[in-house]
Amino acid sequence: MQTETLHKQLISYRRDLHMYPEISMKEYETTKKIKAWLEKENIEILDLGLEVGVVAEIKGNHPGPTIALRADIDALPIEEKTDLPFSSKIKNAMHACGHDFHTVSMIGTAILLNERKDELHGNVRFIFQPGEEIALGAKYVLKAGALENVEAIFGMHNKPDLPVGTIGVREGSLMAAVDRFKIEITGVGGHAGIPNNAIDPIVISGQLISALQSIVSRNLSAFDNAVISVTKIEAGNTWNVIPDSAVLEGTVRVFQKEAREKIPQLMKRIVEGIASSFGAKGVLKWYPSVSTVDNSPIFTDIVKETGLQLGYEIVEAEQSPAGEDFAYYQELIPGYFVWMGVDGTHEWHHPSFTINEDALIVASNYFATLSLNALKQLNK
Ligand code: NI
Repeated sequence: MQTETLHKQLISYRRDLHMYPEISMKEYETTKKIKAWLEKENIEILDLGLEVGVVAEIKGNHPGPTIALRADIDALPIEEKTDLPFSSKIKNAMHACGHDFHTVSMIGTAILLNERKDELHGNVRFIFQPGEEIALGAKYVLKAGALENVEAIFGMHNKPDLPVGTIGVREGSLMAAVDRFKIEITGVGGHAGIPNNAIDPIVISGQLISALQSIVSRNLSAFDNAVISVTKIEAGNTWNVIPDSAVLEGTVRVFQKEAREKIPQLMKRIVEGIASSFGAKGVLKWYPSVSTVDNSPIFTDIVKETGLQLGYEIVEAEQSPAGEDFAYYQELIPGYFVWMGVDGTHEWHHPSFTINEDALIVASNYFATLSLNALKQLNK
């Protein structure tokens, strides 16, 4: 297919998805559309029994290993404010993170690779993953067997602050591990005027919030980067009563595995120690979510060379403290995740988020050539 014809087709697919966004794990129509677009090209869809999401595969004309490309397909519960002619027609749903762009770029890649089966020494599996925004989708497709027999996985996120034709590459950690915590402090309630007969959980909370910040400044190396944010505090009902308990919630973002393991232990020590020093009880509850997007050094060279081979610009990728459930695949097999320049007007999740659609063809070409190169490397 001619590049221009393909580009036009991809733009129309992307606008279709953009007009009818579906939020996480509810991507029923999106799933149908992806299937229809792939079937039109005679690309095989694997039957993994997924209710949402699609896994497809192109088998090369030559035997070899299987690699996977992953695109997330879900939208966000945001009211669109772009005024584009193809704005969301669904109330309180918008492709404000550009997953419509990811989905359609991988369709473009599939179309291109389907025409180049003769050059393929192995197979390319396409994982159109639901539910990225709530970090459930990767686990969902993994459970269905999406990664069976796959040796390596590649993916991307659009990057609004990079121009079209520029790809951000970084070996090692690219996106943060995301963990959530809850702290329960149990003191003794009482009269606000007679605090000596109570154990005030609010005063304890105050001490605790400051002390938690000392983990980043005093317990981690200067080369580790982490964020500990207390984002919710609940205690008390009125002005003249000391409550008997307080609950704090928040999140930890970290890029290094060792620091990620260390932080909950340090937090536990501070929570229990400070609470007990006041005669109260402190309990830390930990809810781990996605780990770090961790790019495998074995692919750094081909990830860069592919871009240069196609005449694109390669820059050092800036790390993001956001999380990405692509990390779950990388826990199992080596993978690489890149930033794709889209020359956007706003940051991710903004109601006016837009992308430059020229990036569709760049991304399609990039992942098609990367697949050929990755298979070549794995065949060596
Ligand atoms: Ni996103």
